[in-house]
Parts: sequence; C-alpha cells; structure tokens
Amino acid sequence: MTPIAVAVSGRGSNLQALIDAIAVGRLDAEIVLVASSRPDAPAIERAKQAKIPTGVFTVTKETRAASQSAMGHAIRNAGARLLVLAGYDRYLADAFWDALGEIPVINIHPSLLPAFAGLNNMKVHEAVIASGATETGVTVHRAHRGKLDEGEIVVQRRAPVLPGDTPESLAARVLAVEHQVIVEAVQHLLSSAV
Ligand code: GAR
Repeated sequence: MTPIAVAVSGRGSNLQALIDAIAVGRLDAEIVLVASSRPDAPAIERAKQAKIPTGVFTVTKETRAASQSAMGHAIRNAGARLLVLAGYDRYLADAFWDALGEIPVINIHPSLLPAFAGLNNMKVHEAVIASGATETGVTVHRAHRGKLDEGEIVVQRRAPVLPGDTPESLAARVLAVEHQVIVEAVQHLLSSAV
C-alpha cells in the first residue's frame, strides 16, 4: 500500500471516495495524513471517522507562507509518496513547494481544463452554464509550483450539460464523475510507480 496525503478545504466528498475505495480494496493506498486549510472543514470529521491523522494549516494572507510550509513538512514527515488536492481552495505558496520537496502533487478540478481554470467549485459550474456550453467534465492533473489549474492531465472525463440545468444540478452530476475519476487517477499513478 502506497502512503498518500490528501489536502482539503471543505465538504470532503472526494476524500470520502478515496477512503471508500481503499476500504473495499479498489485502491492500493493508505492515507497517512489529511491536511485542511480550514479548522471547520467537514472533511476533517470524515478523516477522523476513518482513523486517519489530520492536521489543520489555516491559511490567511499573513500566515500563508508559514502555514503552508508547515503543511509541506507534515506531508513529507508522514511519508506520503503522493499528495492529492481534493477540494483544496488555496493558492500554494513557494514555501509549500520548498517544504514538500519531490513529492508529486495532483489536483481535481470540476471542468474540462483548460476551460474554466482559476475558478473554484460552484463558480465553475455557474460559469459553464453562463457560457452556454453543452458539455463539461472533470480533470485530474499534475500540479506545479506557481501554476493554478494547469499541468499534465492524468485523467479527463466528460459530462453533459442538460437543458434546464442549474449550477446545483450540474455540480451534482459532475461530482458523481469526480468520485470515480479521482480513484482511477490515484490508482493509475500509483501503479505507474509515483
Ligand atoms: C470538487 O468539486 C472539486 O473538484 C472542486 O471543489 C469541490 C470539492 O468538493 N475543486 C475545485 O474547484 C478546485 N479548483 P469535496 O470537498 O466534496 O471533495
């Protein structure tokens, strides 16, 4: 089982998809740390339920570098060989990348990148509907220093935008796809010896 870490900021349903896939043997990994940018993220409770160590690294403008540096060190010290950004909604400072070292990082984004890069969560779905697009999707990509929603694509999957969709109905359809794709992407990377 390969040790991985997951960074979160909110609900944590993608974290839950990883926890569930590991529990049923569909993903050959162990989550050694869940790192949150917010102390009140529901994702933390999901991690605790699954007996996964958690760390809160609160990010404000003033504390970003120190806090994200501590997060990078914690992920490294936990022995993670891959970091998954699963709904982590903060820009990662250079101090984070310095602390993390060579551990690869992937991010899940609820659109067909490069379309609708730079937005978070519901803002993405609102923008997709406003654009009149008839399809959207999910992208898991490698994440790199200084880049936002940009990097080599690991897995990308399409989802339709249906007439009458609201941001909420579209988000629900896309999220169901995310929960499949995030597991596939992590398993694919682990089996190609991250
Ligand atoms: C997910 O839809 C994820 O793709 C998105 O935030 C949501 C988090 O949900 N991430 C981004 O928009 C990153 N730019 P979750 O906390 O239930 O996994």
